[in-house]
Amino acid sequence: MYTLPTLHIKKNISRIAVLTSGGDAPGMNAAIRAVVRTALSYSIETLGIYRGYSGLIEGDIHPLTSASVENIIQRGGTLLRSDRCLEFKHKSVRQRAYDTLVSHSVEALVVIGGDGSLTGAHLLGRETGLPVIGIPGTIDNDICLTDDTIGFDTAVNTALNAIDRIRDTADSHGRVFLVEVMGRDSGHIASEVGIAGGADYVVLPDSEIHQAQAQAIIQQSVKAKSQQPDTQEQSQYDKSQIIIVAEGSSPGRTQSLAQHLIEQGQEPRMCILGHIQRGGSPTGHDRVLASSLGSFAVKYLLSGHQNHMVGVNKGAILAVPLAGLLKESPSEKELQTFEPLWDLLK
Ligand code: F6P
Repeated sequence: MYTLPTLHIKKNISRIAVLTSGGDAPGMNAAIRAVVRTALSYSIETLGIYRGYSGLIEGDIHPLTSASVENIIQRGGTLLRSDRCLEFKHKSVRQRAYDTLVSHSVEALVVIGGDGSLTGAHLLGRETGLPVIGIPGTIDNDICLTDDTIGFDTAVNTALNAIDRIRDTADSHGRVFLVEVMGRDSGHIASEVGIAGGADYVVLPDSEIHQAQAQAIIQQSVKAKSQQPDTQEQSQYDKSQIIIVAEGSSPGRTQSLAQHLIEQGQEPRMCILGHIQRGGSPTGHDRVLASSLGSFAVKYLLSGHQNHMVGVNKGAILAVPLAGLLKESPSEKELQTFEPLWDLLK
């Protein structure tokens, strides 16, 4: 459970809209449900925008009722579907999106997604004045100014489940297994899975694949075998190894590490976990996180705020300016506008 700041509800809103964008993440449905049901508790109508920003541009917008979000808290993926909409990088397209929202009498927008999606939300809010609130939803956990993102915990546990199974077969054959995990340029999934899975090595996304890694893996295996204290019989067997490889910017780079090992006479096995990590029922942690963030997002709008992302900092739910997520630092003016919450993060 999270500590929630007290908010004073002072704004009147009749209709909001919600969308999910970018890679789907387990728990997005729980967040949508919380947005819709919290809004309803303040007599606010929620419109669901399907297929992310693409659906927004095309007007793929439909009302969501309490019944529409029934029985989805446990479901992976996103009821609203998702999309990676490159067109949204253009200002004219964002203006079109705004016009569509106005034509549907939408007074505020909630965007659930990763850093690219939240950057789009920030620009839309800044350029049009539409109140926008972002909710961090990505398995990569790579959004700055929040300790956690919806879907990360589930992805880590899904990967761990696979690794535990791989270990059984790896042990039986004394094999080296290279397991590639998602996360693009961020190494959060790889590091967490490496620790919790008791991996022998973790190759982080910023570390280039080279022959020295293969040599280190082989040396460690030889050392481990010579140190096996158990019994005479045990020490004659090869010891298994689990190596976690972060996918980095190009998925499949595990192949080159496997190649280096093969060149040195090894017979490694490879397993690229891929999209398995994105699917499945969200963990209890992700359901609570998503529900808390979804509910807080609506209340935050009603307390008169806009253009913020709701997130987690040291066990507390809070909000930070969306501007702070951009690669370049927020301007002094923006910092002043958002001072009270920004201060919390200093
Ligand atoms: O950002 C989430 C993520 O799953 C990354 O970990 C991964 O690199 C990427 O999305 C895959 O994207 P797509 O499903 O579009 O291939």
